[in-house]
Amino acid sequence: MKFPKLKGKAVLAPMAGVTDVAFRALAVKYGASLTYTEFISSTALVRGSEKTLGIIKKDKSENPCAVQIFGGDLKDMADAAKILEKKFDIIDINCGCPAVKVIKIGAGSILMKEPKKLAKILSTLTKEVKIPITIKIRAGVYGKKNAVEVAQAAEKAGASAITVHGRTLGQGYSGKADWDIIKKVKKAVGIPVIGNGDITSPEIAKQRLEESGVDYIMIGRAAMNNPYIFKQINDFLKKGSYTKKDSMEQFREYAVLAKKHKLDFQLIKEHAIRFTKGMPRGARTRDKISKCKSFEEVNSVIKSSALCPYQ
Ligand SMILES: Cc1cc2nc3c(=O)[nH]c(=O)nc-3n(C[C@H](O)[C@H](O)[C@H](O)COP(=O)(O)O)c2cc1C
Repeated sequence: MKFPKLKGKAVLAPMAGVTDVAFRALAVKYGASLTYTEFISSTALVRGSEKTLGIIKKDKSENPCAVQIFGGDLKDMADAAKILEKKFDIIDINCGCPAVKVIKIGAGSILMKEPKKLAKILSTLTKEVKIPITIKIRAGVYGKKNAVEVAQAAEKAGASAITVHGRTLGQGYSGKADWDIIKKVKKAVGIPVIGNGDITSPEIAKQRLEESGVDYIMIGRAAMNNPYIFKQINDFLKKGSYTKKDSMEQFREYAVLAKKHKLDFQLIKEHAIRFTKGMPRGARTRDKISKCKSFEEVNSVIKSSALCPYQ
């Protein structure tokens, strides 16, 4: 299946504990051209886990929306894909997660060590469902940067697009993302490539797109306290300039969406803490927020912190 042509160049990365349905809807409002759920276990989904069903909530504005899965059991992955194709536009297979509990079951980044196993998963899933199956990989496993080899095997097995985070498994989040390897993957395959890693500003976004030739870029951590970055990137690519938006205003919009989707208060609180990152007196405000027991309390801390322009 062909990967859809996206309306903009920048997509929102899957981030566990961050990219809940309200956060994704806010990113779409600001111009993200594709959103991903955080990764879910295909086995947990097939078994009907309440938590997993909560994660795969989708907002009407998310169009297209990808669901990311991981799993160690091929039948469960295929069964999960059949459930998910009714609701999502794309199914992405996580091939980058370093967590021991994920690697232990033969999933996540360990799949980069076993391109044949990954190819089998892809060829099975692409036969089972009618929506595009994509993968998200790293530059390589430990010292070995085998992203090109993995990407070529994945394309052959039917993947519709490939996202490359330019760090190896061994790097975790340290060091820099290697955009040369991302560029090599783009040159080596015919399907769309999404480049990911360390894009923190519209200027860097433009430079990465131009230098690597990737079809799209994926933004993770830089969107956590500034989902408005999608509008900034889109504006900068179009007209060479962009505006800023106060992060508390962004949080307020997030909170409205989170309430609409009846999200857990704990999630809202964690986002409030993230949105205050990098602000004057942020540490004191974060400490106060962490003690709050209701949304109203969070709101009043933000208002009284003098960080908020709408007091
Ligand atoms: C809190 C957090 C959670 C993440 N969860 C996922 C996940 O569920 N699936 C995934 O493929 N990557 C996950 N990632 C990795 C990001 O999608 C992305 O590849 C990485 O952060 C590099 O991009 P960045 O430099 O723009 O942040 C996560 C990253 C963070 C910081």
